Amino acid sequence: MFEGHQKIERNLFVLLVLTMVVAAIGGMVEILPLFKQEVAIERVEGLRAYTPLELAGFRIYKREGCYGCHSQQIRALRDEVERYGHYSLAAESMYDFPFMWGSKRTGPDLARVGGKYSDDWQVAHLIAPRSLVPESIMPHYPFLATATLDTYKVQRIMQINKMVGVPYTDEDIAIALQDIEVQLGMKEDAALVESFKKRYPNAVIRKFNKQSPIVTEMDALVAYLQSLGNRIDLKTNKGRDW
Ligand code: HEC
Repeated sequence: MFEGHQKIERNLFVLLVLTMVVAAIGGMVEILPLFKQEVAIERVEGLRAYTPLELAGFRIYKREGCYGCHSQQIRALRDEVERYGHYSLAAESMYDFPFMWGSKRTGPDLARVGGKYSDDWQVAHLIAPRSLVPESIMPHYPFLATATLDTYKVQRIMQINKMVGVPYTDEDIAIALQDIEVQLGMKEDAALVESFKKRYPNAVIRKFNKQSPIVTEMDALVAYLQSLGNRIDLKTNKGRDW
C-alpha cells in the first residue's frame, strides 16, 4: 500500500487530482446536509411568528436600512456574549424574510435590545438620537412618529410569509388589522385580547408611541425593537453547549 502511495506522491498531477477529489468528498459531506433546513436549524421550542404590528415594524426597519449600521447576530464569542447576551440561535431568525443579520456594526448589535429601554426612550432616540446619546452618529427619524402605518400592506406581507413557511393561519391574516389595534391596547374586548395572547404568546400589549393617538410607523418599529430577543425563551432553549 505504501509503495502505491509513493507513486502518487511523486506524480504531481495525480497527487493534485486525488487531493482535489478527497477535498471535494470532504466538502460535500460537510456542506450538503446543510441544504436540508432541519439539519441547519436546531429545533427550538415556542418560537412564535411576529405579530402583525411587529411584522410591519420589521418592514420599516428594512425600508429605512437600519441593518446597514446594526447587526442582529451575536456570535458565540465571549466578548460578544458578555456585551449583548446569549449568542443568537439560527432558529431565532427563521421567520425573517429577508434576514436582518446585517454585515456591519456602526451601531451596536440589536438582537437582544427588546426590553433594554422603555418605549419612550426608543421613541425619543429615533426622533433625535443625540438628545439621549450626545456622541451618537445615528440619523434622525422624526417622520416615523407622525406617519400613519399602512396597515393593509401588512396582510399582504403575512400572506407572502405564509407561502414561504411562516405559520400564520388564514384567520391570523384575516384579523390582522384588528390584532394591530389589540396589541396597541386600542380594543378593550377581553375575548379579542385573549385570542391575541394565545396566538402570540409573550407579545407586549400597549401603545408604543404615546406622542400620537393614531397607529403610526413608530408604533410598529418600536413594537418590533421591543420584541427582539424576546420571542423565544432562552432558558429552555440553550442551543448547543459552548
Ligand atoms: C449611520 C448608522 C446608523 C443607522 C442607519 C441607524 N443607527 Fe441606530 N445606532 C447607531 C449608533 C452609532 C448607535 C449608538 C449610539 C446611540 O445610542 O445613538 C445606535 C444606537 C441604536 C439603538 C440603541 C442600541 C443600544 O443597545 O443602546 C437602537 C435601538 C437603534 N440604534 C435603532 C436603530 C433603528 C431602528 C434604525 C433604523 C430606523 C437605526 N438604528 C439606524 C447608528 C445607526
